[in-house]
Amino acid sequence: MALRLLIADTDQEWALKAAMHFKSQLYDVDVVLSGKDAQLKAYNEKYFCAIINYDLQNHSGTQVIKFLNKNHPGVKVVVSFDTSAVKGGEDFAAIKKNIRFGATYSKDDDFDTMGDFLESHQSAADMMNVKPTSDVIQDEVEIMLDDNEFTKVKIDEFYSSQAVLFDVFVQLASGKYVKILHSGDKFTKDRIDRYKNEKKVEYLHFYKKDAKKFVKFANYLAGKFGSSKKVATRTKLGLIKNVAEKFVETAFAEGVKPQVVNQAQEICTNIYNVIDSSDDLNAILREYDEFDPNAFSHAYAVTMFASMLIQQFEWKSKTTVELVAMACMFHDIGKMKLPPSMLHKQPSELSDTEMEQFRTHPELGSQMLSKTREIPNAVKQIILQHHERFDGSGFPAGIKGQKILTLANVVGLADEFYHIMIETEEKKPVPALRKFLTNPALVKKFNSVLIENFLKCFVDPGKIKRK
Ligand SMILES: [Fe+2]
Ligand SMILES: [Fe+2]
Repeated sequence: MALRLLIADTDQEWALKAAMHFKSQLYDVDVVLSGKDAQLKAYNEKYFCAIINYDLQNHSGTQVIKFLNKNHPGVKVVVSFDTSAVKGGEDFAAIKKNIRFGATYSKDDDFDTMGDFLESHQSAADMMNVKPTSDVIQDEVEIMLDDNEFTKVKIDEFYSSQAVLFDVFVQLASGKYVKILHSGDKFTKDRIDRYKNEKKVEYLHFYKKDAKKFVKFANYLAGKFGSSKKVATRTKLGLIKNVAEKFVETAFAEGVKPQVVNQAQEICTNIYNVIDSSDDLNAILREYDEFDPNAFSHAYAVTMFASMLIQQFEWKSKTTVELVAMACMFHDIGKMKLPPSMLHKQPSELSDTEMEQFRTHPELGSQMLSKTREIPNAVKQIILQHHERFDGSGFPAGIKGQKILTLANVVGLADEFYHIMIETEEKKPVPALRKFLTNPALVKKFNSVLIENFLKCFVDPGKIKRK
């Protein structure tokens, strides 16, 4: 069942425009033009959210909100206002005081801002229950659009509920896409399989703005299956890889908003559960070849390596793994402030001037997060120190040995290891380990205890037992 929205606004034109937008986002929408009608509707129907205009007449906005608070306390309330000038006034302050669970929204903003609020308050279970708006599969539409608007996932790793929650595309050429599923279409696995098997499509594309829906959905599944022994480790890894990668991609696009820190925490718990419950992870990791050089895949790989390294220690705990996982997801967030052309480059590809800028990213990152109280201080410290090295050769402070937080050195090792791996021909861990261990200059950058335990991450415990 689709979630229901009530829009109450005296401006019919705006209300209808909003209704059209949210219908396209798979909500069921009712529009009323007076406070009285809003109350009547709310009395008869069950709404997920009511979007009430500040200036509603014939039962004021405040009256309607009070009515909702009293009779339907679960309904989220968004108060819309016409111009920013209203915001400073006493009336506005009064109406705002009555919002128990909701937000205010300027009608000058685009609908996506309000859409974000609505989405952040619905659970993946709500999303799963969205019924297809039609059984008819619509025609494929070819469109020309900038590649930058899109993000992609492997076709095998695409998850959806009964209905596809957003438009899905296949890329024909750079800048050229075909829409194969429309938001609200029935999700048919057969159709996806046909693209995969007959048309040899490897990736499905969707708008970057829809990545949040995808993350929420995939994370829900990761939470459900993460610690299950019945689900193959590879499937679980695919899930958390997508979750972490797309989550980091969104964080890089929008910054780390306090609203998403909870989600980061959930993702880290899911990562921990997968690591903790999969006995064959070490063996799989040895041969793992799902790494690519983009910055978001990098964040995921570092998260996995560092979390697995922590798991080798006796002092490991769920909290420590989760803390490090969070630090890893955000460890390079400071690069957001650097020229975009640098984002996906490996350190070895940087010019001297770029290198100088690159060396500021740990400080930029910890500064960016300093005001986000929801992120633990230890995470900020790890981010600041993730390029410090045991022999003092790191940056920004050049501190050495025990002065560096062990967890920062853990992240540093995972980080450096990823770069070595991506630069080997095979792009797999084992050749990278060889390259790492035969380079004394690299080895002395890290605490030897860490290196020893890092090696254990790639040893198949099954093989040891057999010997
Ligand atoms: Fe870094
Ligand atoms: Fe990094």
